[in-house]
Order: sequence, then structure tokens, then C-alpha cells
Amino acid sequence: ANNSASSPSTTHSLLRRGYSSESAPERKVAVLGAAGGIGQPLALLMKLNPLVSHLSLYDIAGTPGVAADVSHINTRSEVSGFMGEEQLGKALEGSDIVIIPAGVPRKPGMTRDDLFNINAGIVKSLCIAIAKYCPNALVNMISNPVNSTVPIAAEIFKKAGTYDEKKLFGVTTLDVVRAKTFYAGKARVPVEGVNVPVVGGHAGITILPLFSQATPKANNLSGEDITALTKRTQDGGTEVVEAKAGKGSATLSMAYAGAIFADACLKGLNGVPDVVECSFVQSSITELPFFASKVRLGKNGVEEVLGLGPLSDFEKQGLEGLIPELKSSIEKGIAFANKS
Ligand code: NAI
Repeated sequence: ANNSASSPSTTHSLLRRGYSSESAPERKVAVLGAAGGIGQPLALLMKLNPLVSHLSLYDIAGTPGVAADVSHINTRSEVSGFMGEEQLGKALEGSDIVIIPAGVPRKPGMTRDDLFNINAGIVKSLCIAIAKYCPNALVNMISNPVNSTVPIAAEIFKKAGTYDEKKLFGVTTLDVVRAKTFYAGKARVPVEGVNVPVVGGHAGITILPLFSQATPKANNLSGEDITALTKRTQDGGTEVVEAKAGKGSATLSMAYAGAIFADACLKGLNGVPDVVECSFVQSSITELPFFASKVRLGKNGVEEVLGLGPLSDFEKQGLEGLIPELKSSIEKGIAFANKS
């Protein structure tokens, strides 16, 4: 099986040139929050993706400049920029995929949950518009706290009567990207061939990398190494927030991860078989209504939520430990969406 989570061709396809777009169907991708720290490099990477025919860039400010800039790149997609709420409908209409990196990022000392008060409202209003203007689009939620913003989106879509659990994704790809990088460094194996599933959620201890399932297998890692790798993956975002010292959180690596995940969604829509990525989706593999795990992507979005596979004792403990926090973040999102 061509597991795209581990395939170096995923990376290369972002930069593929001279690609004949005749065989690739028309696909419109919208980025909401496109003028932000993530939005700008994500717009660039999506402009390089030959599977995109129309790139729609939306933000409350600054989008005309980003769109004009990116539009000069000589790749397949047409680019349009939209600014302000009155243009949101136009930005969304006909979208196959909507990627949402809109909202405020963390500053040192903040948890992702500290962003809830601002970002929950932003996500809610964007999802109301998605339900109205492109109810069939796949939604790639990047805005934090993902553990709550995905349940908010689900509730908003349910109220609008447009909810399709196969089409809503919390983007946890950056956790996978980090786990792969850190594992490869520690195990001293070439990073391009590394695969590590990351399950649970997208905040602190809810991020559970399954290094026992990492490939290629490394026999040189001790239990202490695995504990340290797990902690570094869980704290990867905070590492960047602290290094940026008040200037935001991960943007470049997140744009890369977001582009990888959107590319996987596009491939799935286009009928490429065996496209598998980890994502935070509606799930019945644990007692929680949403959970991140490997997901097979297809023509309608989620084709299959894959199980956890065999866990080490350390991972079983991690799973047990994360459930209460993830549960309360999910419930917080659901309560917010239903209170007004
Ligand atoms: P940023 O502040 O640089 O950019 C956010 C953009 O959103 C700004 O351009 C702003 O104008 C725009 N925005 C605000 N309200 C909006 C609205 N109602 N409609 C459309 N756009 C709106 O922030 P950055 O660094 O790009 O981060 C964005 C989000 O992504 C944050 O919530 C951050 O926590 C999250 N994030 C998620 C990660 C993940 O792994 N899922 C990783 C890193 C960040």
C-alpha cells in the first residue's frame, strides 16, 4: 500500500513541475486566514500543488497583496483574493476543500486552550458561512484549540443540517511531521523513509505518538529515549512558541504540514487509492466522539477510520491519561456551539 504518510513522493509532489494538468480534475481550495503567519506560506505551497485549479485566499485584512504576489507564480491554479466578511461567500463558493488557519496563535506561557475565547468565535462564524456557501467541501481545521474547534464545527454544521462526519478534519499533521523528524534524529535513520502514527488529540498530553509502530524499526532506542521523544513531540509547539519569544507559534512547519494534509485530501477526492494520514475526526475507536488516528481518505473524504493497532504499555498509559483532558476539550467545544 502506498501510505502517503510515509511516502517521500508526497513531499516532492508539492514541488512537481511541468505537470500536465489535463488529467487532474478542477479543484478549488480556499484558505481562510490566508494573510496570516501560516496562511501566507500555506498559500504559496498550495499554489505549487498541481492538483489545485483555483486557489481562493480569504482574510479580514491583507489578502489582496498576498493574492497578487502568489498569483504571479507560473503554476496551474488561478488565484483570487477576498477581504472582509462581505466577500466570504464568494471566497467559499464552489470550494472542494476549505483550509482554516484563521485565529490568534499562542504566546509564551499560553496553552492552546487559552486561545479558546477568541478562536471559537472566529471558527463558528466561518463554519456558518461554509454551511451556507460550500456545504460539501472538506474542511481542514488548523485553528487552535483543534480539540475544541473541530467539535464546534461539527455542531455548527449539524445546526445548519449540512454535517457530514466524513468531511471534517482536525489537522494534526504537524504532530506527525515532528514525530518523524525527532525519531529519525534519535534513531539515526534517514528521515524520508520514517513513518510514525500520532493519535489522540492536538494539545500537550493528548498528542500521543506511537513510536512502537514507527518504521523503520530502531533497536537502538531505550525506554528513556522513547519517553523523551514522546515529550518532545507533545511539547514541539511550545518549543517553537518559546523560540519565537512572543512573535507567534509554528507557521512554516505548520504550512508544510497543512499542505501535505490538503494534498492527501485532494488525492483522495481524485480517487488515488490507499491515501492514509493521521487526523482528528469523528471516531468510534475510543469512547470519545472525536479522536485522531490514521484515516484512509477517499472520494467523499474519510473512507475509513483505522484502528490504533497494538500499543506498548507506555502508550496504553498515555492513552488512558489523555482521555479526560480530550473529553473535556471536546465537551467545551460542543457547549460553546450550542450556547448561542
Ligand atoms: P496569525 O495571527 O499570524 O494569522 C491568523 C490570521 O487569521 C490573520 O491574518 C488574521 O487576520 C486572520 N483572521 C482573524 N480572524 C479572522 C476571520 N474571522 N476570518 C478570517 N481570517 C481571520 O496566526 P498563525 O500563526 O497563522 O496561526 C493561526 C492559527 O493556527 C492559530 O489558532 C494557531 O494556534 C493555529 N496553529 C495550529 C497548528 C496545528 O498544528 N493545528 C500549528 C500552529 C498553529
